[in-house]
Amino acid sequence: MIVISHVVALSNNNVIGVNNDLPWNLKKDLAHFKEYTTNKIIIMGRKTFESIGRPLPNRINFVVSKTIKDIEGAHVFTSTEDALSNANNLCVENEYKEIVIIGGGYLFRETLDVVNKLVLTRVNCDIDGDVYYPEINLEDWKETSSVKYEEDSENEYDFNVIVLEKN
Ligand SMILES: NC(=O)c1ccc[n+]([C@@H]2O[C@H](COP(=O)([O-])OP(=O)(O)OC[C@H]3O[C@@H](n4cnc5c(N)ncnc54)[C@H](OP(=O)(O)O)[C@@H]3O)[C@@H](O)[C@H]2O)c1
Repeated sequence: MIVISHVVALSNNNVIGVNNDLPWNLKKDLAHFKEYTTNKIIIMGRKTFESIGRPLPNRINFVVSKTIKDIEGAHVFTSTEDALSNANNLCVENEYKEIVIIGGGYLFRETLDVVNKLVLTRVNCDIDGDVYYPEINLEDWKETSSVKYEEDSENEYDFNVIVLEKN
């Protein structure tokens, strides 16, 4: 089975972004993100791509956009369905085992029904923002791991990396 996951960092009140950026500095979470996504197919919305500013190395970068046609180092698709179906084909042809949807709010909302794994960084803060992760129905999911990280000089808040798999 191909795993299709969301990897997302969200506050206690489900904020994931502000002013097209992340609302926090969490060095250990960035390291976790890099480790988790390396050698996988990652799918992102155009705004998230622009926020990152470049294709991420050692990953197959898929960007969904109706306004941008070509990006050097990434594959561009005009719909989320197209991106998912091409990612699926690439998994079958090349034995990739996971497609990771990395945001932002649009992409997470559009794919909530197709993902079978959630890798959530729950950041222990309530903050203002302008992009939110959708509410999930916890009855649909089973927690399979949870690792706690403490706030320190390079990590603005405590956070927990929680993995949920679809029931
Ligand atoms: N905390 C986290 O883990 C995390 C992760 C990722 C992003 N973020 C944050 O989230 C924010 C960005 O999220 P966002 O919701 O504003 O934008 P987004 O989902 O990254 O990108 C939205 C754009 O993607 C394209 N798109 C989305 N659905 C589409 C569809 N069905 N067909 C064609 N194109 C589609 C459109 O691009 P066009 O307008 O070009 O057509 C749309 O404007 C930033 O603040 C970022 O820092 C946070």
